[in-house]
Amino acid sequence: MYLNFWYPMALSEEVSDAPVKVKALGQYFALFRSTSGQVNCLANVCLHRGGSLAAGKQIDDCLQCPYHGWQFDGAGKCTRIPTLPADGKIPARARVDSYPVEERYGVVFAFLGDLPEAERPPILEIKEWGLEGWSIPRLVYPWEANVERVIENGLDATHTEFVHPSAGMQGSFDPAELDDAKLIAHAWGNEFLTETPRVVISHGHHGANHQWTHLDVDMGGGTRGHFNFYSFVRPIDENSVMRYLFIGRDFNTGEKQDKYISDMTLSFEKEDRPVIEDMQPVQSPVGSSGELLLPEDEVMLAYRKNLAEWRARGWRIDSKAIADDPRNTYAVPSPARRDGGTWLRKAVPVCAE
Ligand code: FES
Ligand SMILES: [Fe+2]
Repeated sequence: MYLNFWYPMALSEEVSDAPVKVKALGQYFALFRSTSGQVNCLANVCLHRGGSLAAGKQIDDCLQCPYHGWQFDGAGKCTRIPTLPADGKIPARARVDSYPVEERYGVVFAFLGDLPEAERPPILEIKEWGLEGWSIPRLVYPWEANVERVIENGLDATHTEFVHPSAGMQGSFDPAELDDAKLIAHAWGNEFLTETPRVVISHGHHGANHQWTHLDVDMGGGTRGHFNFYSFVRPIDENSVMRYLFIGRDFNTGEKQDKYISDMTLSFEKEDRPVIEDMQPVQSPVGSSGELLLPEDEVMLAYRKNLAEWRARGWRIDSKAIADDPRNTYAVPSPARRDGGTWLRKAVPVCAE
């Protein structure tokens, strides 16, 4: 699991003035919407004695801990300690991490890391969002699998025939389609493109946890239809994820067909899920170690190469070190940590492997 990417934390409609507790990257977060409509995302563990802030309530745009009533504003700064005498001063280090939040596509994304704004990888763009002539229904569901395996399944061009036979995919794959396949590097990811007159397929990843699959299909009569899938994945921990999937199309649009398309996608999901949940090792190997990869798998290698670069930058959370240290709580470091000052809670340990 990696720091410094945008993670889908909840649907916009799930976040109101009452706080919501969300687990991501093995840590807990408290989301709440202040009176201005802005969603705030704080590290959930109270600094005083470890209460769960999301179990408290919002008062005057601050989150009040349920245990002794300390209050924290949207920036994570403690604004009230009820037991302080009238002239008492709130210590400067009484603050919890607060993370940048952006609402897009009806989803609350939080940037879980400490990169300054100019250096952050952007959220994967759904270019068709809001465009006339497109329907983009959405699905949200969990898998008991590591985020890396989930993203790699989205990049895998050759499993459909075997995993999805019930959807009429037998014989759907022609090895000749791979002859002119191209691997294209992007700013934060890689794309695997296969082009035939019948169908153009683009699979790609953006960062550690966003992924797309675009199909450009000959519909006959000189027309083409487009099916664009966008997947935003939140690792809950090393072994489970929540996936937010958008299914865009520019043909047979409308709500009735949305239901049909969503149901069909869910049936695919049910076929993928047991296969991916049963893979070993749970996390993707380093490079091709222990796997016999073929040319069509080179996009997986490209993804793994990116992951290795991000590990070298100190972005991979050392989940084992955290599990081995049950008497400590850690926090995902937020951008404010770059300004210095004292932080009571240690940043999550990172590892290079
Ligand atoms: S634990 Fe939160 S106020 Fe005491
Ligand atoms: Fe699949």
